[in-house]
Formats: sequence, structure tokens, C-alpha cells
Amino acid sequence: MTAPALVHRLLRLDSDNCTALIEWEAGRMPVWRHFGARLPGAVPHGSAPQGPSQSATPLSSVWPAARLRRQANASMDRLDGNPLFPGFGNGLSNNPALRAHADGVGAVQEWVAQSFSPSSNAYSQTLVLQLTDASGLALDLTLTLWHDSDVLSLQTTLHNRSAENLQLDWLACGAVPAPADLSEVAHFSGQWGLEFQWQRTPLAASGFQLQNRHGRSSHEAPPACFVLSPSTSDHSGEVIGAQLGWSGNHQFALDRCDDGTTLLQAGVWLAPGEVRLAAGQSHSTPTLHCSWSSHGLNGVSQNFHRFARQHVLRWNGGNMRPRPVHLNTWEAVYFNHDDATLRALAERAAALGVERFVLDDGWFPGRPNDHSGLGDWWPDPHKYPKGLGPLIAHVLGRGMEFGLWVEPEMVNPDSALFRAHPDWALQVAGQALQCGRQQLVLDIARPDVANYLFDKLDTLLRENRISYLKWDMNRDLAQAADTAGHMAYAKQIPALYALLQRLRTAHPAVEIESCASGGGRMDLGILQHTQRFWTSDNNDAVSRIAIQSGAARLFPLEVLGAHVGPAPAHTTGRSQSLALRCAVALFGHMGVEADVRKLGAAEAQTLANWIGLYKAWRGVLHAGRFSQGRTANGVWWLVRHEGRAILGVFTQTAPTTMHHAPLRLQGLSDASALGDTQTTWRVRLLGHAGQERARGDAPSPWLDALRGAGVDCGAAELRATGLPLPNMNPESALVFSLERL
Ligand code: GLA
Repeated sequence: MTAPALVHRLLRLDSDNCTALIEWEAGRMPVWRHFGARLPGAVPHGSAPQGPSQSATPLSSVWPAARLRRQANASMDRLDGNPLFPGFGNGLSNNPALRAHADGVGAVQEWVAQSFSPSSNAYSQTLVLQLTDASGLALDLTLTLWHDSDVLSLQTTLHNRSAENLQLDWLACGAVPAPADLSEVAHFSGQWGLEFQWQRTPLAASGFQLQNRHGRSSHEAPPACFVLSPSTSDHSGEVIGAQLGWSGNHQFALDRCDDGTTLLQAGVWLAPGEVRLAAGQSHSTPTLHCSWSSHGLNGVSQNFHRFARQHVLRWNGGNMRPRPVHLNTWEAVYFNHDDATLRALAERAAALGVERFVLDDGWFPGRPNDHSGLGDWWPDPHKYPKGLGPLIAHVLGRGMEFGLWVEPEMVNPDSALFRAHPDWALQVAGQALQCGRQQLVLDIARPDVANYLFDKLDTLLRENRISYLKWDMNRDLAQAADTAGHMAYAKQIPALYALLQRLRTAHPAVEIESCASGGGRMDLGILQHTQRFWTSDNNDAVSRIAIQSGAARLFPLEVLGAHVGPAPAHTTGRSQSLALRCAVALFGHMGVEADVRKLGAAEAQTLANWIGLYKAWRGVLHAGRFSQGRTANGVWWLVRHEGRAILGVFTQTAPTTMHHAPLRLQGLSDASALGDTQTTWRVRLLGHAGQERARGDAPSPWLDALRGAGVDCGAAELRATGLPLPNMNPESALVFSLERL
């Protein structure tokens, strides 16, 4: 063997199932060698991530990337591997991870390794890599690989050590390689009332871009994507999933390296002139979280759920309490707040088993509709002459918590706040104000604005026993310029996080929900400061099946607000049975959003029963491992926690076969679904919605047994042979319990 001439070192991070390998030699461009399945020779957890044993990875250890390739025809003379952080104008044609210039000059960058520092703790291994460029720019790339979730978190800080003022057009949080055979990309499209619609396409030779310029995470393009192989399914195959911890404009860019490897980058989409770095200044990106799995899309989702549970969500006292059943007043009364009605609603809600009563929009002055009032955060003296206190006392007296809707970042031109401070709204001098839902966005990066909002919310929380805020945000950002005329989209986001953090510090027991016309702001950035998402304004159960299936690819069920709405649903005009609405809401953080005073005795009993079922199973739903799959005409959701599991099978369209195919709870592998093949599970039908497609007079010993004492099934049988199911009509559901014997 001819020894490779170039000396090189490998830097390595390991998690339970994953390895990241970087070729690193001071003065040279760092190169990705691997991100994916764990390679032999891992450094034990808790040890610093350096000095891997050469013998475990002899090829990568001995052979530098530049020695593995021959000069290709019509190529530049330099030979490299795939860059860790692509430069620009340096003979490599990758999408640059930084686009910047000093008034038109200094745009070419070649990033070379300078120094690195490894560290580790009980949860993760971290490498901080210092890269420099001849122009006087320097980068700190921080890569953290989390042991038990196989999530690689990437974040970048750029230092302008040149003498020039730098104009920043793009700075990626990092770039992650996906092998060439992961040749498909999946992401979400959506709109109001139809969030998280799954899209999966072949990755074009020209790459893929996902851009969001709505100023919030958006319904249209939430900050996430997946790179996967054409053969990857829900249950098996390789996937790299990526989510950004950021709630504003963003961009995901996938491009192909010269060997077909995909480099995935993500970061903040910057408006022109938005970030300018004077000499000596630095700029940091948010964090990109990428996870690899060979257990299909469910594998990556389970990694993301574990990561959110352990390293993102922050609960008062450290632990999540059982997620209380909500009654939200919005679809019950809208803006028509009337003391007697609200008290009666609370009365009925408590009798049904509701645990938290959330007073939605309409409680503050000048709010008979959505044309006025935002900004004036005190109770309407006409609707609430004695303040919120009497209603809160009534709610608390019924054993429920009290929650309140607010939309702090907004102001209506028709409000006391706007009349006093018209300059507090984001706007562009000389242009007519652009409203959305008749409202403007406040420049919350201004300390006076943030202080006003903190003061008003703090007063509400100090003077009232409010334990929950539904924090709404009902329009895109536009004309997002500060008083100096500079674009201010990106500045809003840290200002929002700081405001939320300030409130949480002052009121640690208050939980906060992130809502933005439904699920327009659902991301790992805001989830650090909140504990629930309002997943969608669409409570139509059929729409919700797709919306919740999509959202659960990223987030655990306990943060996905899911309400039993009225029939017909106000967003679609469609009606579904109460049982179906309940069965769908069960698989989330359950609530009710309807005028429960109008329920007849039988309906009230049905709703109370499902609420009871939720309470009995939330310990599993909100701690367990979630998997989803498809049947010929619907979807199934399974959550397993230790020796208990709950399964929902939803039939969406008419069956195309005479009998239902057995549901194979397989492909989930030992690591995910039902565990050891030797175990036996007792399966029982807990609840159902809709009609069976069968002759009414025909006996069904199987269903009778499932409904009764239950049926014992081997884990291997469930996986390989499948659970026999009745054929159901469209818009129906079967909910089973599985208990390990
Ligand atoms: C948004 C929210 C709804 C409701 C209304 C109130 O649309 O998503 O849930 O709170 O605002 O105006």
C-alpha cells in the first residue's frame, strides 16, 4: 500500500446509535467523512470526543479524502472531500455556508481549520471548531451530539476580525452530509387550518430549497425537512431529519456535492441589510437539530420527541404534570363574553371532567370583534366590571385552573396603545400601513415596547390567579423595519424569546401555549419557552388526522393541543361524530372547544367517557414512544410506554376490500414498537367511532372478545401476522389498549 502523503486527523462524536466524523488538519479545509450509523471504536460517553482508535476506522483514519479521488475531467485542480462548512469562490461549487461582503469586496472565503476544543457531559459530546479565512473572518462551529436521541445540534458564530464593516446575506447554522442514496426530500406545506401537510419528492440534481419569509415559523413552510432513501418507510430505512430552533424567517438549502452527497444547510433567511457586522463584532445563528435513524421516519420522530422531552421543554419544578384537559371558550362564545354564559360553561365543563378553563379572545376593552383593542391588556370594564377576579374565582371553585388568551406582539390601530404610541408598530416611513387581521406588529426589540408588554402581562398575572397563557400571533410580519429603517424581522425573535423568558422567570408556575392562527409558530425555538402548541384552528377531525400525523413527525403528543370542536366544524363546514372528534383529540393534549352547554345527556356522557379515557391513558400518551403507519384507507397511531400501549386506527376513506387487512404492527423493530418477540399482549377495544361495514345481524365473536375481556396476541404475531380488524365505514376510529402480560 502506498501511504497517503497528507497527514490528517479525525475528530469524532458518538451517540448511542450515531457517529459524526470530521477530517481535520490545521491550515486545511475541514471535511465531512461521515454522519450516520455508529462506527466501531466509539469513545465512551463522558469522555472527551477525540483520539478515536485508528484501528476501528482504518480507511478513514489512514486515507485523507483528497487521496481518495483522481482529478476528474473538466474539474478544478484542487482535490478535496465534502466541506464541513462550504466556502465561496474557492473552486468548490457548493452552496456557500456564508455569503457576506464588505461593500462589494471580500466575498471569497476558504475556511481552514484553526483549533478545536472537545468536551462532554452525561448527555452529550461537543466539539467547538475554530475556522478562519484569510480575509480576517473567523468562525466558531459548535457541534453537539446527544447520546440518547442521536440528535446533532449545530450552531455557528461569525467573528468579523477584519477592519471592514461586513454585510451578511446568509450564515448557515451548519452543514450536514447525507449519503448520495438518500435521494428524496420530505417537508411540510400548509396554510391556515391545514398545517403540516406531508410532501415527499425526489431530490433534483439541482438541489432543494425551502424558504420562509412570513416572519414567523409559518403555516406554509415550517422549519423542518427530511432527507431519505426512496425505500425509506415510516418503519424502516435511513433518514436524516432536520429542524431549526427558530421562530422567524428561515431557509433550508440542500445541494449536491461533486460525489452526489447531499449537504443540508439551514439558517435564518436574512432580509437585505438585516445583519451588518462592524469590525470586531460577532453574529450567532440559532441552532439546527439534525437526527439520523435507520428505523424510518418513526425512528427520527422518536429521536426528536426524546430530544424535545429531555433537552428542550422546561417544566416548572423540572417535571411535566399530567396535561390537564382544556375547555377553550373560542368556538363556544367567540367575542360574546357574558358573565352568566361563561359561568354556565365553566360549570358544565367541570362536570365533564375538564381541568383548565381558558378564556379566549374578547376579554379586553374595545374587542367586540377582531377590528380593535389589541394592545390594551386589561379587562373590559363593561364585560368585566369587577375585573377577571369573579370569573376566575368561579372557575377555581369548580376545581379547574384558569388560563387567558393574549396576543402581546400585536396592536390594532384602533386601540389606546396605538393612539398613544403610533411609532411602536413596525412600519416603513412613507408607505401606507399594511394590516393583517386589522392589526400591526409591535417592534418588540425596542426596550420601551418590551417593558410595556412585560408590565401589562406581569400585572395580569400578579393580580389574578392565572396559571396559563395562550400566546397568540395572528399575522405575518410585513414592513418589518425599525425606526432607523433597517429590516427587523430577525431581531423580533430573540426579543420575543427574551420577553417570554422574563415572564417565565417572574411567574415560573405559569404555562404558556404558542399559537399563531393555529399552528403558524411551532418550532423547537419557541418550545424552549412554551409548553404547548395550538396545532391548528381546524378542529375538523378528518383534517386533524393529517395535521396531527404531520406535527407528530416533529413534536411529542403532549405538546400538540387537540380539541373536540363543534359539528359542523367552523373551518370546514363538515361534521363528524362526537366519538371521532374525541378519538382524534385523545392523541394529543386533549381539550374541548365547543359550547358544552348545548350537549344533550347522551353526548355529554360520551364526551365525559372520552375525557376519562384520556386521563387514564395520558401517562402513556405523553411519555411513550409514538409510531404511525398507513393502512389501505387510513392511518394508525401507536404509543407504547413500558408495558402499556394505546393504538388508534382511523379509517378515512371507504374500504376497497371486503374485509380489512390485518394491521401488522411491524417494521417497528424491537427497538420501537412492542418489544421482545416473546411477549404476549392483551388487546382490548377501548372505544370506537363510526359504523362497522358488515351485516348488522352477523355475529362477530372476535369483536365481542376484543370488547370484553380482551384477546391475547403474541408480539411476533402482531408484528408479522397482524391484528385482525373489522372493516369500518369512512370517518371512523377504533381505539385499542395493549397491555403486556
Ligand atoms: C386565532 C387562534 C384561535 C383564537 C383566535 C381568537 O385564530 O388561533 O384559536 O384564539 O385567534 O381571535
